[in-house]
Amino acid sequence: MVEDNKEIFCSLFEKNITREGADKLLEWILSTDFFTAPASTKFHSAYEGGLCQHSLNVYNRLKGLVELEFGENWSEQVSMETLTIVALLHDVCKANTYKVDIRNVKVDGEWVQQPYYTVSDSLPYGHGEKSVYIINGFMRLTREEAMAINWHMGGFDLRVKAGSYSISDAFYTYKLCPLLHTADMLATYLDEKR
Ligand SMILES: [Fe+2]
Ligand SMILES: [Fe+2]
Repeated sequence: MVEDNKEIFCSLFEKNITREGADKLLEWILSTDFFTAPASTKFHSAYEGGLCQHSLNVYNRLKGLVELEFGENWSEQVSMETLTIVALLHDVCKANTYKVDIRNVKVDGEWVQQPYYTVSDSLPYGHGEKSVYIINGFMRLTREEAMAINWHMGGFDLRVKAGSYSISDAFYTYKLCPLLHTADMLATYLDEKR
């Protein structure tokens, strides 16, 4: 499954994202653990390849939502390139962020060693803002793409939890923000298992 998803991800990326620097960005992604990483330590898709699977789930959900919102000519409102960028890359911040550790757990009265995922962030820059930072190092994002990726966590974003109101202005101004956030929620809670 890891290899199949990697192929799907790369072909969508290469077919739909053609702006300057995209090839270098994909090269970088291929040099990381993006395709084998989990989507989280334990919350959703915490298995090998979970991050890539989640990104593809968000892509499919976002395509459905954009069509629902804008109709069959949706690509006049949101280009295929923009849709692919925000969906496939919103969680690129999670590349090189998890590692496998071992812990002792009791099974039937016996202590056994069990692997588990833990966070080891080599670039502690936040979450959505970190994805934007990484992508911008290789290719330019439009304002709307940057906004959607930056605020994709919606009300779960730590900045929002701390009291920031910027997200509400961003959500009202850029339709792609609530659409990507909703796609992320649907993928996480309806398409994926804990
Ligand atoms: Fe995320
Ligand atoms: Fe996500």
